Amino acid sequence: MHQYIQDFSKYDGQEVTVKGWVANSRSSKTNIFVVFRDGTGFAQCVVNLDQVGEAQFETAKRLTQESSVIFTGLINKDDRQIGGYELSVKTIEVVHLSKDFPISPKEHGITFLEDRRHLWLRSKRQWAIMRVRNQIIMGIHDFFQSNGFVQMDSPIFTGSACEGTTDLFETDFFGKPAYLAQSGQLYGEAMAMAMGKIYTFGPTFRAEKSKTSRHLSEFWMIEPEMAYYTNEMNMDLIENFVRHVILSVLEKCKSELEMLGRDTTSLEKVTGAFPRVSYTDSVKILRGEMEVNGKNAITVQEEDLQTAKDKVAACKTKIAENEKIIKGGVKKGKRNYLQSQIDKLKGEIKKAEEQIRNIPQWIESAKNFTDGEDFGGSDETVLTRVFDAPVLVYNWPTKIKAFYMKEVDGHPEFVKGVDLLAPEGYGEIVGGSERETDINILLKKIEEHELDEADFSWYLDLRRYGSVPHSGFGLGLARMVRWICKLDHIREAVPFPRRFGRLFP
Ligand code: 4AD
Ligand code: MG
Repeated sequence: MHQYIQDFSKYDGQEVTVKGWVANSRSSKTNIFVVFRDGTGFAQCVVNLDQVGEAQFETAKRLTQESSVIFTGLINKDDRQIGGYELSVKTIEVVHLSKDFPISPKEHGITFLEDRRHLWLRSKRQWAIMRVRNQIIMGIHDFFQSNGFVQMDSPIFTGSACEGTTDLFETDFFGKPAYLAQSGQLYGEAMAMAMGKIYTFGPTFRAEKSKTSRHLSEFWMIEPEMAYYTNEMNMDLIENFVRHVILSVLEKCKSELEMLGRDTTSLEKVTGAFPRVSYTDSVKILRGEMEVNGKNAITVQEEDLQTAKDKVAACKTKIAENEKIIKGGVKKGKRNYLQSQIDKLKGEIKKAEEQIRNIPQWIESAKNFTDGEDFGGSDETVLTRVFDAPVLVYNWPTKIKAFYMKEVDGHPEFVKGVDLLAPEGYGEIVGGSERETDINILLKKIEEHELDEADFSWYLDLRRYGSVPHSGFGLGLARMVRWICKLDHIREAVPFPRRFGRLFP
């Protein structure tokens, strides 16, 4: 039997055995401080020369980064340590000595890390992200299971397109072309007619050749579908669902979010109502023609631009001050501290300079936005900036949305679609709609979208036999992880990302 770091609080003052890996270590004459990890957490383990004797001390000295090791020792409460406990080691058993682990604590380029994703996953930051991802998954199942939804698995080999024909991965299915599912929705609709409320939770595929920070080629999607739901009810559900998942992460993953340096202020705002804005109004807001609680989207961007400029100036002043102190001559410890402050400030400058480059383009694009088009990534950023919580944008132009969305009564140029846009520049995380029930409108749309009617004959049966109003939506898991963890890029939100240009490891 061995114990786990996550349970250290139960064993305060007792002897335990832990099995894991060396994340990092440093030594003095009489002590070796090992940052040890076992999958459930990180803890400092101290190997003291007098405690363990010469031979074991020498063994501990040879422990390289990522060597696997078993420690037995006493647990002591120590609030200064990560996790609040420290292990004072009595015996050491080396399982495997690792040689030249390629990922050192120093900074690495992102491609270097992505090429070594199988090892990168062990680092503290990636560990924290994967724990948050796990909690998000738990929160999702928990929400649906406790609200009367039945989970279903939709097929991955499909004979037809759901979200348009441009980004399908084609594969060979016993000599016939088949496509990797873009969405499980159409099958979800069939199942909802049998079970009332269902949700899928599975892999979906998009062959878009876009190398952005929000696009994957393979991603897990959660797609609930509800019989007898209007789009208003759909929006209520999206709101309650997203709120539930975020609150569960805030409750269960405090230390992980802290490790990620995630300021949770914006996440905490989900307790309030999510604003609902029609597409038409959001265009006006985006162009700066309509204000939200006294805020003008364009003015806010101009203010952000000024803030970024001020930030660069302030950081540069601070760097100069630190450099002056270093030049004047200081002790090594102080110098290292100042140097690390300088590096941090340089990082902040880099971020602010990126904003200074981006914002003028965002403003241009927002001001000149053409009514009727789809929002680009920057448009979503500008639009959501004037709101405090995630925003539900509803009633979209028919021509930019999928064939199955229900037309707005009396206004066939709009459909009852809804997107949930996350704040802080994360943009669309949910897309959904009320579904068209009129078989004739569906037939017309299938033709307009240049889809093959024969492929959809089974789907149209749902409108032939006991057709009812129904709605649903899809949440991209990786997009949710990215937002909650505040990641620059979606690649860190998935264990092994598959995206344009990336198939290995
Ligand atoms: O908006 P989308 O394309 O909607 C559908 O697929 C519907 N069938 C959903 C439904 O009504 N049942 O995709 C839904 C969500 C997006 O909001 C986004 O979060 C995610 O899936 N998504 C992607 N995530 C990562 N990479 C991509 N390439 C994505 N494309 C969509
Ligand atoms: Mg969408």
